[in-house]
Parts: sequence; structure tokens; C-alpha cells
Amino acid sequence: MELLTRHSSLKISTGPSGRAIAEPIESDLLDGLYQHLTMERQASAHYFAVSLWFAERELRGFSKFFRQECLNEHEHAEKFAEYLIARGQTVVLHDLPAPNQNWTSVEDIMKVSFQMESDVTTSLQQLYSVAERSSDVRTTVFLDPTVESQLSSEDEFAYLLGRVKFANNEPSALLIIDGELSKQV
Ligand SMILES: [Fe+2]
Repeated sequence: MELLTRHSSLKISTGPSGRAIAEPIESDLLDGLYQHLTMERQASAHYFAVSLWFAERELRGFSKFFRQECLNEHEHAEKFAEYLIARGQTVVLHDLPAPNQNWTSVEDIMKVSFQMESDVTTSLQQLYSVAERSSDVRTTVFLDPTVESQLSSEDEFAYLLGRVKFANNEPSALLIIDGELSKQV
């Protein structure tokens, strides 16, 4: 009887979605998680546009590579959305600008894509330190595998940028890289 009375008076905190939450997210960290979610969606839109650009130019290996990158980024965005839901938030999706579709060279695409990967890494590192400052261990645990896969993505893009730079806009060299990429995955 005493146990029942104690349970009925137990107060459980809920988030904006009404879901029970064990620990609220500090506002700086919440803003950062939302910004990062938008960044992943932007990266996905960018890679989708790039994949189409290559498909229009019969470079199917590059197109396939960027299509996969588009899916990967979308998956990352999903993970952040799922994490926000798990922490009792309602996920508000922000507007995205239209991706650039006017490229003058493959090297330009690779440079911009590498920079985008590096910006995503920086954003993750900032999120990580905000989570540490707020002693939000749930978030640091969530971010750990994301940081690891982001670093290997950065490495992959640095490699590809190096190969494309070396090709120096020579169609025959770009076709060799395209052939290699079509065999991947
Ligand atoms: Fe990503």
C-alpha cells in the first residue's frame, strides 16, 4: 500500500514532445544538435546535386560515389533526429538553401566537398566540447561513433581530392578514377 502511494506521487519530467526524459538537454547543446542536423541535411542535398551533375556527364563512377555519400549524410541526419526524439524533443526541420549545381571542374567539386566534410568534423568537435561542458554523458556517448566515422570520411575525401588534383583535368585520367569508383561499394 505504502509502495503504491509512493509511486503515484512520483514526478517524471517530460520533454516538449511529452516523452519521459531522464535528463534535460542544456539550451546551447540543443541548439548545436539542431544546427548539426541541418548541416547533415545540407551535405546530403549537396551530394545529391553533385551525383546528378556527374550522371549528366556520363561519369557513372563519380555519380555512384556521390549518391552513396548523399545516402550516408541522410542517415547521419536521421541519427541526430532519432537522438533528439529519444531525448524528448520534437524535431523541427529548418529550411535548406538550394544546392549549387553550377560547377566548372571536378577538382572544384572535390575541394568544396572536402571543405564540407572538414566543416562537419569541426561542428562535431564543437558539439562534443559543449556536451562535455554540460556533463551530458548521453550526448558524448552518442557522438563517439559519429566522430570516428566522420574522420574516415574526411580521409576518403582528402584521398579523392589528391587523385583528382593529380589528374589535372585530363579526361583520360578522370575516366580512370571514374572506373575505380564504379567498382567501389
Ligand atoms: Fe555526415
